[in-house]
Amino acid sequence: MRSLIRVRGLASGKIVGEYEVTDPGEFLMFFLMQQGLPIASSCAGDGVCKKCVVNGDRLSCQIRVGDWLRDFPDQDVEVGYL
Ligand code: FES
Repeated sequence: MRSLIRVRGLASGKIVGEYEVTDPGEFLMFFLMQQGLPIASSCAGDGVCKKCVVNGDRLSCQIRVGDWLRDFPDQDVEVGYL
């Protein structure tokens, strides 16, 4: 299984980076924040504010990185404002 998550910025049209997954149980939003990416959030991951959305309609605070790699193996994480 792939162990890298690749992030694409839709505003820039560029690949922002590729990041190694070491803890598959970590939530995607916190994983992205730990890479230094400014993921928007005002509910701190409670699944309420919907600011952490990626790929159009997925809440990054509700998806574990291991599930992302399993369920969307060929997809970049797309962040609209990056
Ligand atoms: S951080 Fe608020 S819904 Fe994800």
